[in-house]
Amino acid sequence: MGRYHFVFPQWSNLLLPGAVVFALIAPVYVVFVVAYGFSPKTTAVGYEPVQPIPFSHELHAGQLGMDCRYCHTTVEDAAFAAVPPTQTCMGCHTQIVPERSSLDPLWESYETGVPVEWMKVHNLADFSYFDHSAHVNAGVSCVECHGRVDRMEVVYQQETLSMSWCLECHRNPTPRLREPSRVTDLGWDFEGRAPGSPERRDYQEYLQDLNRIQPTQDCSACHR
Ligand code: HEC
Ligand code: HEC
Ligand code: HEC
Ligand code: HEC
Ligand code: HEC
Repeated sequence: MGRYHFVFPQWSNLLLPGAVVFALIAPVYVVFVVAYGFSPKTTAVGYEPVQPIPFSHELHAGQLGMDCRYCHTTVEDAAFAAVPPTQTCMGCHTQIVPERSSLDPLWESYETGVPVEWMKVHNLADFSYFDHSAHVNAGVSCVECHGRVDRMEVVYQQETLSMSWCLECHRNPTPRLREPSRVTDLGWDFEGRAPGSPERRDYQEYLQDLNRIQPTQDCSACHR
């Protein structure tokens, strides 16, 4: 906040016609955005579809301590977060409790080659674009957007995923940053730096400067 100081140079007078046009369309534009972009109709907080296999993050990511990237292998490299193929599960389950009936659909998939039909929990409309790697590599943890998945027996949607929710962080990302190496450590305690403390703020401002983090508010970044 207050870190940028814009001084308008002489030549900015040349922009005046543009500014007038903007002043004329701005109210229309604001009404449009308020009416559509900020409407809560796209929220599905709490959405928790029934999955074909009772797979528990609380057990695998929480108790067994498996890293998110063991299964969601693409989060650092791609826009989407891949859901693991059956082979990833079978790396363990051909040996670990293979006879449990809860694993029957997994065996069926393994033998037929037909993927398990996991139900999608989070789902943005097609006209908006999201990129996991841009966030994960900037040090925005999964927990900021998905909550404590490592404590969820069944994954549900924790945040609205609305445009105003995206923009709230894009305008002020500082308190949501951590070292990129900590993004999958959902319960990380910032080495004792309490939320809101000067130590936490200094650390996060340092990271923001170091990695030159300045999220966009440009419509075309998210609507392409
Ligand atoms: C052992 C593999 C495994 C690990 C480890 C794992 N996940 Fe998952 N994850 C899955 C599977 C399978 C699904 C699809 C079924 C479901 O939603 O439970 C999934 C679904 C999800 C979803 C919902 C995706 C959607 O459809 O919108 C999120 C969010 C998620 N995982 C986050 C995480 C996070 C964060 C971690 C680390 C704390 C993690 N996962 C660790 C296997 C894993
Ligand atoms: C690193 C090893 C490992 C991987 C990989 C793994 N699991 Fe597991 N899973 C376990 C262990 C350990 C248990 C607990 C077994 C027990 O109850 O003793 C378990 C338990 C389960 C159970 C509960 C079984 C029951 O009825 O009690 C299900 C269902 C399950 N896993 C599904 C999956 C799926 C689906 C995947 C892939 C997305 C997966 N697991 C990947 C180790 C793994
Ligand atoms: C800045 C917010 C944000 C962060 C950080 C984030 N996600 Fe997501 N995640 C989303 C959104 C939004 C979607 C829905 C994307 C869509 O529908 O296009 C999503 C979808 C997913 C999905 C479903 C597959 C997909 O790509 O649609 C999985 C799995 C997932 N996230 C896992 C993770 C894991 C694991 C992490 C941390 C390594 C993580 N996410 C970090 C916002 C985030
Ligand atoms: C940081 C990303 C981001 C930026 C920047 C952004 N949007 Fe959005 N926008 C979204 C998301 C996410 C949604 C909701 C998508 C959904 O419903 O799944 C949305 C929804 C909308 C909708 C609502 C459509 C409907 O059916 O409800 C409109 C209109 C819109 N945006 C216009 C704009 C305009 C104009 C700008 C530039 C001022 C802009 N957006 C900038 C992410 C963004
Ligand atoms: C908790 C904070 C946070 C939330 C929530 C968030 N973002 Fe971001 N976003 C960031 C940060 C930090 C960056 C990286 C900016 C940088 O590297 O300068 C980023 C980058 C991006 C980029 C890449 C922009 C570029 O310059 O290429 C896109 C696209 C994006 N976000 C879309 C979204 C959308 C869509 C949503 C909502 C569904 C969303 N973000 C929610 C913090 C957030």
